[in-house]
Amino acid sequence: MRQPLIAGNWKMNGSKSSAEALLNGVVAGSGGLSKTEVAVCVPFPYLHLGEQLLAGSSVRLGAQNLCTESGGAFTGEVSGSMLADFGCRYVICGHSERREYYGENEASIAQKLTRATESGLTPILCVGETLQQREAGEMEPVIAAQIDGVVERIGIEAFAGIEIAYEPVWAIGTGKTATPEQAQAVHAYIRGRIAALNGSIAEKLRILYGGSMKPGNAAELLAQPDIDGGLIGGASLSADDFLAICLAGEQLAA
Ligand code: 13P
Repeated sequence: MRQPLIAGNWKMNGSKSSAEALLNGVVAGSGGLSKTEVAVCVPFPYLHLGEQLLAGSSVRLGAQNLCTESGGAFTGEVSGSMLADFGCRYVICGHSERREYYGENEASIAQKLTRATESGLTPILCVGETLQQREAGEMEPVIAAQIDGVVERIGIEAFAGIEIAYEPVWAIGTGKTATPEQAQAVHAYIRGRIAALNGSIAEKLRILYGGSMKPGNAAELLAQPDIDGGLIGGASLSADDFLAICLAGEQLAA
């Protein structure tokens, strides 16, 4: 049984004071969780706050991006070792917003995955199709290309230290969630694709679902056999909503 991981992706939201309140709220409400792993991926400026406020709790800290390079003259970038220095465990790589607005592709995402693992971080690799691609029947080839393009560059063994998040682009921030059956089908497809290369890595691989996961739909999504957690955007900005999703994971893991 894979331990569920519920990770919040705050995206570019919050202020010093709201971040502090949210971190404190998540810590206060997650004390009783023992079967579900909880993480919050905060904006860079709040990493220090996260490191301080999560200390002594079981809530893990994460970031939302890192540089393709390990250090040096790359103005405005943040390295994996800097994230590790602030106590990060996780870093999101290849989120669809970064693919769409910042031109990330399999080549740069593969570099980021390597930089992350070199720094002792666990990357959360995001994949997912647009509505247009789904309607054109291209969902599987799109997901396959997103996975294969990375596997070709970093090797299947690297997936022993990576989490995958399936995030259908049409479900992100739209309130339109994939049905549990739709999500399960893609999760099974992803696991099968990895299994064709390495069965034991595929068996242990956690595949999170992301896209309008909320307290009201989390339990039925998390109950699917190949859904091992959630990557939560909007609902992670409310401690109560985020903790309700964590509790759904905890109850299913029980
Ligand atoms: P929402 O939960 O707001 O749809 O965002 C999902 C997401 O993009 C998490 O990375």
